[in-house]
Order: sequence, then C-alpha cells, then structure tokens
Amino acid sequence: MATELDPVNLMKQQVGQAAAARVQSGSIVGLGTGSTTAFAIQALGDRLKSGELKDIKGVTTSFQAIVLAKEYGIPLTTLDQVDHIDVAIDGADEVDPQKNLIKGGGAAHTQEKIVDSFADQFIVVVDGGKLVDKLGTTFLLPVEVIPMAMSPAMQAIEKLGGKPQLRMGVKKAGPVITDQGNFVIDVKFAQGIDDPAELEKTLNNIPGVLENGLFVGVASLILVGEIVDGKPIVREIS
Ligand code: 5RP
Repeated sequence: MATELDPVNLMKQQVGQAAAARVQSGSIVGLGTGSTTAFAIQALGDRLKSGELKDIKGVTTSFQAIVLAKEYGIPLTTLDQVDHIDVAIDGADEVDPQKNLIKGGGAAHTQEKIVDSFADQFIVVVDGGKLVDKLGTTFLLPVEVIPMAMSPAMQAIEKLGGKPQLRMGVKKAGPVITDQGNFVIDVKFAQGIDDPAELEKTLNNIPGVLENGLFVGVASLILVGEIVDGKPIVREIS
C-alpha cells in the first residue's frame, strides 16, 4: 500500500516530478542532493522504468545521490567521461529574487556547485518556504573547510562580520564530515548577505576554505511547490 505523504512532502514530490518531467531522452542529468531532489530522482527512475524516458545518464553530487540513483535504476557517469551536462536538478535552502541561492543544508554544496554550474540548464526544486528577499536571513551559510584550517578560517570569517559555528553530526559523535572528508562551518550574518557575489569570492579566498554555499547566477529556472486552496501546485520562476 502506498504511504500517504504529508502536505510538505507532497509539495516536494510534485516539484520533483515537475523537474523530472522536463528531462528528455538521451540527456546527461546532474543529480542533486536533498529531500526534494530525491523525489526528482525517483521520478526519473519511474519514467525510465515505464519506457517513457530512454538513455539518460546521471552525474551525482553526493553519496546520497549515488545511493538513490542505484535504488531507482539510473545509470551513472562521471565528469571525466562527459563534455557537458544537459540539465541539473537540485534543491536549495534559500532563493532570492535574483535566483541566487544558499545551498549546503546537506553539506553537499561543493560537488553540487561543480555539477550545477557545469549544466546547460540548472533547475532548482524548492517549496515556497525557501523564497526570501535577502539571502542569509533564514538560513546559515555553509562553508566547507579542510579540518586543519578550521580555527584560522573561523577567525577570518569573524573578521568579515560572520558568526561561525562548526556543524555537528546527528547520530554521530563530533562534527559532520563531508563526502570529501572535510568540516562544515555554518555562518550567521546578522543583517543577511548584502552582496552575495562578493562574499562568495571573499570566502573562497580564505586559505583552507574549499567552497561555500552561495550559488550566484547559476540557476536557470526555479520550480516552487506551493499549496493553493488546499492543493499542491508548481509555480515557475525563470
Ligand atoms: C544539500 C543541499 C540541498 O539541496 C538543500 O539543503 C535542500 O534540501 P531539501 O530539498 O531537503 O530541503 O543544498 O547540500
């Protein structure tokens, strides 16, 4: 018997399915990370199984995406074997009116930025609660650092006006370890982020920082799941 989804997961499912419906046969597809993208990966698998979609190959952004792609029967390739990605589908933690994003809620933003930026089209899948006027107002900015650089990187972030905290594991003692074996520092900017493009570059210039969760000018299309009159709908922001 199919399990009933709660309204939030129903929204995520609809938006994931809407993104998967845009993928065409023969495409190389960037497979993002997170609970919303998981529905898109499942929907891609369903379309492959039904024969409606043929001959796609996925490029993953995390161990989570690898596991899901295997579960739903999506053949995988790597960035070494392709010269482009047709479309990437990925979630976000915040989306501003310019379609700039904060990502990294799942600590996967480093691989996500590589794959999503390389795609000809990057479709972002979110629920309406992720839309903000200014980035950094509802979500802390994730910054991946190599472990031995944690203290100096935190001091440098404080000098930029941020309040850094090391992300701790759940059901795991100690810090979260990324898929690359690093730490994640989540940074609070009290007034939000005024200039995301500048901050993205400045943070990545701190020695030991691998990548931060600001995605500026990368998204092509935002698919937003919303509940209107008690029904889930998908709105497009292009
Ligand atoms: C992982 C991410 C996710 O895409 C982001 O956290 C959104 O996840 P969800 O769809 O579960 O809300 O950036 O690093």
